[in-house]
This record gives sequence, C-alpha cells and structure tokens, in this order.
Amino acid sequence: MNRLRRLRANENIRSMVRETSIVVSDLVYPIFVIEGENIKNPVDSMPGIYQYSIDRLEEELQRISDSGVKSILIFGIPSHKDEVGSEAYNEQGVTQQAIRYIKSRYPDMIVIADVCLCEYTSHGHCGLVKDGKILNDETLPLLAKMAVTCAKAGADIIAPSDMMDGRIEAIRKSLDENELENVIIMAYSAKYSSGYYSPFRDAAHSAPGFGDRKTYQMDYANGKEAVREVLEDIKEGADIVMVKPALAYLDVIKSVSLETTYPLAAYNVSGEYAMVKAAAKNGWIDEKKIVMENIIAMKRAGAKILITYHALDVANWINNGE
Ligand code: PBG
Ligand code: ZN
Repeated sequence: MNRLRRLRANENIRSMVRETSIVVSDLVYPIFVIEGENIKNPVDSMPGIYQYSIDRLEEELQRISDSGVKSILIFGIPSHKDEVGSEAYNEQGVTQQAIRYIKSRYPDMIVIADVCLCEYTSHGHCGLVKDGKILNDETLPLLAKMAVTCAKAGADIIAPSDMMDGRIEAIRKSLDENELENVIIMAYSAKYSSGYYSPFRDAAHSAPGFGDRKTYQMDYANGKEAVREVLEDIKEGADIVMVKPALAYLDVIKSVSLETTYPLAAYNVSGEYAMVKAAAKNGWIDEKKIVMENIIAMKRAGAKILITYHALDVANWINNGE
C-alpha cells in the first residue's frame, strides 16, 4: 500500500523532504522615515511599526542589524506636500537624507528606495494630476528624477511603485545617463488596486485626496494581465519584479513565476499584517504559526524575495531555531 504518512513520521523525516524553507536573506523589512526631530510615532493600525525621524532611526537600524536582516525598503514622509511632489526629488529631501544616513552607518545594508509621488503630493496620487485625471507621460520625468536622487544618495535598489506605463524605461535611462548603471531596479510590476493598503496609507500619509487608484493600479479580477505587466517591465529593464499584495494573489505569484526566470518578490502588505496582528492580539490565532504559514505560502507559490513587516520577527525565529 502506498502510505504517504511514512514521510510525515517525525520532524527529522519531515524536514528532509520539506520543499520550501525561508532564510533570513529572503526577507526585506519596510521602514517609515518622517521629517522632523525626535519622533517615534506608533502606527495604530500596524502594531509594532513606527514612523521614525532620522535622529531616532539608529534604534530601529540596530534592531534590524541584530536580526540579521540585510535589506530594507524605505518610505519617506515629508512635512511639505505640493501639487507636483517637489520633496520626492529634492536632494535634501527626507528620503534622500535618510538613505545617506543609513548608508553611512550601515554600508552593507541593502537600501531599497520606494519611488512614487503619493507621499509627496498634496492630492495623494502617484502621478501628476490635471482636471481630475492622473497624467502618465508627464509623471515619468519626475519619477526618474526621484530615482536618480535616491541612487545618488546611496540607494542600492530603486523600487518604483506608481504603476505609470513606461516608468521602468524612463528610470533605467536616467540612471544610466547619470553613471548609475549598476543600480538595480525592483519593479512593482503587478500592483493591484487593493483594500489591503489602508494601514500603509495611515503610516505613510499617502491616501488619495479624491477618487481612487483604479486608473493606474491593476483590477484585482485580472490574473493574466499580471504576466503582461511583468514581461513589459522586464523588457524595459527591470532586474527584479514584484507581485503585490501577496496572500490573496498567490495564483498570480505562481503564474508570474512560471513565465519568467527573473527574481520575483512578493509584498506581504500592511492590511495583511494588520489582520494577523489584530487576530493574534485577541488570542484568536497563534501569531508565529500564522506568519510562518503565510510567508512559506508566498515562497511556495514562487516568490524568492519576501517583503514583510514581520521580517524581524521571522528572522529572530529562524535564528533561534524555532
Ligand atoms: C505607494 C505605495 C503603497 C504601498 C507601497 N507603496 C500604497 C498605495 O499604493 O496606495 C502599499 C504597501 C502596504 O500596504 O504595505 N505607491
Ligand atoms: Zn504611490
């Protein structure tokens, strides 16, 4: 008789045949850096996550470094917003300064700069707005400028999250023209218009002031379109591609992973984190079990790089052999 249970008999056997495991180098930890002084603000909808001013960042960087996590994704929150998102591409902007600060303290840390305008625009959209419409081509030079300023500040990876068409090509070209040809592009290729981003918008002060992001982010009813987005970004010069969010999109991660040999990242977003934290706080689920099951699922589906607010916890569990 075929007995599949033979391979489940004990932990040593199970781990010998286990297909998927997580290593600390898979993990990317997002951080929020806010302009100002002496700030450590808790984000209410994301327990354990804070906005830090640069002068308080050391505490967080030390925690990251102690966990062994080697890469961070930076979101800057400026104190000045305007129609054109000027602070996004200001060499002295909060994001650029944070990158310089981090690279001066931790030169080996992989610094990934999220490139988008929504944290910096008064209307909260990811591109320029005219007559209530989000402009595509007019936005591209601004994204490219932001990418160049972040790369010059020391970012190792540029991660455009705006979902304008043609942005990867525009950014690659500007980086190359500025002798930044070795800076990596991690494209938020298949980024869906999702209800799962709302805690992030509290954290990054980036909610759209009118309307929604449905004319640029993807319709969550579409799976095949994700493959088109990914292949287009690769053609334009992306080095790493991404699917976002992760848990309701495991089918998308799977199909993208079958269509490309490029490294694939999955973004386990704020709403996914908030749901786990809320249920765990109520004692309704076991946080560690649920988090490991969730992130193994993302990797099993085909993602290599796992961007998650749980990254430090996961790293510490791995380090402690749990
Ligand atoms: C900004 C951006 C968003 C996220 C990453 N970059 C929010 C949005 O598109 O509204 C979401 C991250 C998360 O929810 O954790 N373009
Ligand atoms: Zn945006």
